[in-house]
Amino acid sequence: MNAIEMKSITKRFGSLIANNNIDFTLKKGSIHALLGENGAGKTTLMNQLFGLSVADEGSILIEGEPINLEHSPQESMQRGIGMVHQHFMLIKNMSVISNIMLANEDENFPLLNPKLTKKKIIKLSEKYHLNVNPNAIIENLSVGQQQRVEILAALYKETNTLILDEPTAVLTPEEVDDLFIILRELKESGKSIVIITHHLNEIMDIADEVTVLRNGNLIGTYLINEKTSTQELSRLMVGRDVLFDFKKQNEPKVEKILEVKNLIYSSNSVKQVNDISFYIKKGEIFAIAGVDGNGQKELCDTIVGLNKMDSGKIYLKNYDISNTKVKYRIKNGISYIPQDRQKSGLVMNWSISDNLILKTYERKPIANGIFVSNIKAQEQASRMIDKYNIKSQNSSDKANQLSGGNQQKVILAREMDRGPALLIASHPTRGLDVGAMEYVRNQMLELRNNGGSVLLVSADLEEIFQIADRIAVIFKGQFMGILKPDCGIAKLGRLMAGLNEGERSE
Ligand SMILES: Nc1ncnc2c1ncn2[C@@H]1O[C@H](COP(=O)(O)OP(=O)(O)O)[C@@H](O)[C@H]1O
Ligand SMILES: [Mg+2]
Repeated sequence: MNAIEMKSITKRFGSLIANNNIDFTLKKGSIHALLGENGAGKTTLMNQLFGLSVADEGSILIEGEPINLEHSPQESMQRGIGMVHQHFMLIKNMSVISNIMLANEDENFPLLNPKLTKKKIIKLSEKYHLNVNPNAIIENLSVGQQQRVEILAALYKETNTLILDEPTAVLTPEEVDDLFIILRELKESGKSIVIITHHLNEIMDIADEVTVLRNGNLIGTYLINEKTSTQELSRLMVGRDVLFDFKKQNEPKVEKILEVKNLIYSSNSVKQVNDISFYIKKGEIFAIAGVDGNGQKELCDTIVGLNKMDSGKIYLKNYDISNTKVKYRIKNGISYIPQDRQKSGLVMNWSISDNLILKTYERKPIANGIFVSNIKAQEQASRMIDKYNIKSQNSSDKANQLSGGNQQKVILAREMDRGPALLIASHPTRGLDVGAMEYVRNQMLELRNNGGSVLLVSADLEEIFQIADRIAVIFKGQFMGILKPDCGIAKLGRLMAGLNEGERSE
């Protein structure tokens, strides 16, 4: 008997068909990956299984027994299904115990006993090596730990089937390894797992089977074995061959676009940026490699002017901009794709088009004197939606109605379309699927080839090696060295770990 059978599932949102006649079967005791680009319909399919969204057509069987398409999440939990969502549902200032009690309360279990809950948490945590402290307050936990709390909450009620929506998107490589150990253990104990991801090597690593969706359509379900290749999977997912083959045309110019001298920025009396000096030439991609949290964000925010530096100098095209406002720096050619896009990149309850023209509305041709032309603004927004392939139903949709990847494209379109002298891009492809990733990297390269400059902060070394002209390695707020892309990954890795070999090459 199968753990789950979804048959001919169709789900429409207005005129958009998010799931078109999809069949999906999860075998008992297996790990089944759900693969597809952003917007392919993966979350929608799983939401209908979990009871967060109602299918328009089709049928769903859980362990061979049908369930009403209009069932609630409580009902699916009672039938042994647990789901870990892409955005965590935990309440930050509450303990693990309180969160788990809250998540599992319903009319059948109205008052959970804290002592028993704690016991059960400890038992589950030990059984699956989740390493969760029941008394910890959520906001004091790392993202990886919070995710394990979510998994524990999902397992709490005799769960047989666990759904994980892009669980690895927020994790470091080591945390992904830890998660996979847990998933294998769950599988060993007979649980069935659906994992949504668009990382192909993760699928090769963990999954028994993969189902591929594209644009709401089922492409197929395939066994993962020696014959499966990531190339084949990416072709199935994107519908064409994805080529990570980037061509750098002509060398960077001599002219310096940005120069940073002895920059120091501290917060909480820690030097987050500790005496950093470098320059970026016209037509150059300068990358900063490093483990997250070593000062990358603070450095970018300081260059843009969001942080007030303690000391040092910043020159943009030879002008000292050290003490200028953010607005001045943007006006003079700096574009910024921040790390935390939902918080600082987009106004989530504004429309897509308003977000697209957020920084240009004060300029011609949209503004003529004090009058803002709505028609011109709409024209510009439509052109950008087209060019950057932003998938939405309507440009008047709110930004929070877009998938994560498409939100990212909105920011990218806005920041790149101005033809900036300097684009500061912080993890521009994090969380994107391969097709979009290829696109974004090509856009940065095109900007470079046309004489623009890029400051690229990335934790993805493959990306850095593909497109950077020079690579700085940051560790604890300092540059450990500035290297050429032919330096080799081993050397870069050593510098990222803070092992200085006492040399500095350019
Ligand atoms: N609540 C909703 N209202 C309108 N459209 C939606 C809603 N949820 C998802 N969509 C649309 O359905 C499509 C599939 O979305 P989703 O299932 O989230 O994709 P995935 O998880 O594969 O990235 C997208 O085009 C998305 O914009
Ligand atoms: Mg999704």
